[in-house]
Amino acid sequence: MTIEEAHVRVAELTELIDRYNYEYYMNDRSLVSDYEFDALLRELVELEGTFPQLASPTSPTRRVGGEVNKSFQQVRHRFPMLSLGNTYSIAEIEDFEARTRKLLDGTPFSYTCELKYDGVAVGLTYRHGELVQAVTRGNGTVGDDITANVRTIRTVPLRLRGEWPDDFEMRGEVVYPFDAFEAMNSQRVAEGDEPFANPRNAASGSLKLQDSRECAKRRLLFCAYFMMLPDGTPTDGTPLATHYGRLQAAEKMGFKVQPYVKECRTIDDIRFFIDFWDKERWNLPYGIDGVVIKVNQTALWDRLGTTAKSPRWAIAYKFKAEQVSTKLEGVSYQVGRTGIVTPVANLQAVWLGGTTVRRATLNNADFMARLDLREGDSLLVEKGGEIIPKIVGVDLAQRLPGAKPIVYTTVCPECGTPLVRAEGEAGYYCPNQDGCLPQRLGLLEHFVSRKAMDIDTLGTERLRLLYDAGLVRDVADLYDLQRHQLVGLGADTAASIQEKGADNILRAIEASKQVPFERVLFALGIRYVGEVGAKKLARYFGNIDSLMAAGSMELAMVEDVGDVTAMAVYDYFASPAHRAVVDRLRAAGLQMQVVEHRVSNRLEGMTIVVSGVFEHFSRDEIKASIEQHGGKAAGSISGKTTYLLAGAKMGPEKLRKAEKLGVPILSEEEYIRLIEN
Ligand code: IVH
Repeated sequence: MTIEEAHVRVAELTELIDRYNYEYYMNDRSLVSDYEFDALLRELVELEGTFPQLASPTSPTRRVGGEVNKSFQQVRHRFPMLSLGNTYSIAEIEDFEARTRKLLDGTPFSYTCELKYDGVAVGLTYRHGELVQAVTRGNGTVGDDITANVRTIRTVPLRLRGEWPDDFEMRGEVVYPFDAFEAMNSQRVAEGDEPFANPRNAASGSLKLQDSRECAKRRLLFCAYFMMLPDGTPTDGTPLATHYGRLQAAEKMGFKVQPYVKECRTIDDIRFFIDFWDKERWNLPYGIDGVVIKVNQTALWDRLGTTAKSPRWAIAYKFKAEQVSTKLEGVSYQVGRTGIVTPVANLQAVWLGGTTVRRATLNNADFMARLDLREGDSLLVEKGGEIIPKIVGVDLAQRLPGAKPIVYTTVCPECGTPLVRAEGEAGYYCPNQDGCLPQRLGLLEHFVSRKAMDIDTLGTERLRLLYDAGLVRDVADLYDLQRHQLVGLGADTAASIQEKGADNILRAIEASKQVPFERVLFALGIRYVGEVGAKKLARYFGNIDSLMAAGSMELAMVEDVGDVTAMAVYDYFASPAHRAVVDRLRAAGLQMQVVEHRVSNRLEGMTIVVSGVFEHFSRDEIKASIEQHGGKAAGSISGKTTYLLAGAKMGPEKLRKAEKLGVPILSEEEYIRLIEN
């Protein structure tokens, strides 16, 4: 095929695929079978491979992702991304309406009412009809460039249809639809990952994924709600003169716009819209948390102006969390990894906030005592932005006379050990750390988790398999595992281990022997010792023997280690069983001392501020490099700064400040020369 022929075919394929995608994602219509669609896409991928000069950044092949971001570039918004004034009170909406009418002093105008999406705000820049950049809100002035990830969202047009302004920004919200959210969370749990707390967190986490191919797998939606035109763009007499007209125009360009926008003229119309959606919102496929009311005529926006943070021509009404009353069927107790025993209310199933609720946490003994629960009580349950429902009180009007009080359990529901309560804490815990099943499994899970030993081939289910087979009862047992013990384990279950799986598990276990001491320390799961505490302890004592020999007074001298933690560390190592585990881990070859990675002393005594993006390093790599050469990496410029290490796309303030304080500026090349010389 000649390049000319390829050019024609690429254009044909692009148009077809774009159209099929549009019909599929915007109109829920499949014009071709999945098979045909895949064939077209594959043909385009191959052509672009053969003729890379024909691969456009707006090609539909880009939807599957591919770019990997080491860190996200910070970019300044051309138009600041303001937020909206918001209120839970209808009276304040009435005030807003009256104030706006007064300020506009007889000028005819209207409002638009629309849904307030509960997701992540993103601004998309389009030039000559093509998506060029996508940026998060950030602090409103500067945000993260997440273009590679946003390109994978099917409802973001890469190339616009019909007519469009040559240069504008489309703002909208990236949301995670409920069904996709639940499917993803179940999968995460099955794979041993933390589930996201709510669809908003899931959307924001997805947009910050480093690998855009991963983001492409998440079923995100972009919903457009606001078109920004550069100052001076003439719109008089055109559809772009009203917000409503802009949304209609956006829809024609290929954006997903909510069909529920309404033009309203009176406060009664606005009130009706709010009341309607307050009840109807759970029937939507994605979450909304209120209604946005905007002045429709864009020429009036300048007249009304903005306050420091938000425009005076718009306001958000936020819905109150939905509340229902339901009957308490009983209280059960859950034992967590650290032995904390959490009371859970089992409820008569009730429909709330888009899901059926059967259980809700009672937090701890104090919370239960405050509620003064009785058998057969009716509880008020609420669901705010979180997916997990909250108990807010007892419906006392429904309490039965003479109902028996419910008292918090005194023994562990798993192992029967009497519970203890640490001084000053609200929760009781089971002290039988080594004999209580959920605690043992929890400890194993913690040990293999990403931030600890990172043995990612062992999830919850597989650990359970190993435990039940008697192969792994404590963390040191992991290092005695043999290939023949693993192969064939858990046949017929989702966690079954085959030959390849066994190799992967053993490889990950082997690799964990290189994990630095501070993470080994964190992995042990000593009560109150988190990542930071483990790092501080590791740096202070340098190795496990000094740490195990330390008294509680000395332990408490370590920065960020309080008396309670110090006591817990002391108690932990006082146990012969724990010492035995440590000895076995040491014998297995785990890192039991801090390894200094000092490469040179060339930057000794220097403080270097890093800003912008670099060609050869990620930001974290450059900071690590500074420390390895004996220097200090700092965040902001001061009189003590030795150099400003300036990369591309650095913010102008830093530059200005460096010039003002006379701090010399280093380029990436100069830095490399400095450390290599
Ligand atoms: S308009 C200058 N419309 O709510 C006006 N915002 O606090 C720009 N939001 O950051 C915002 N749905 O993330 C607008 N239909 C909608 C919205 C909406 C959700 C979010 C947006 C913004 C926040 C305002």
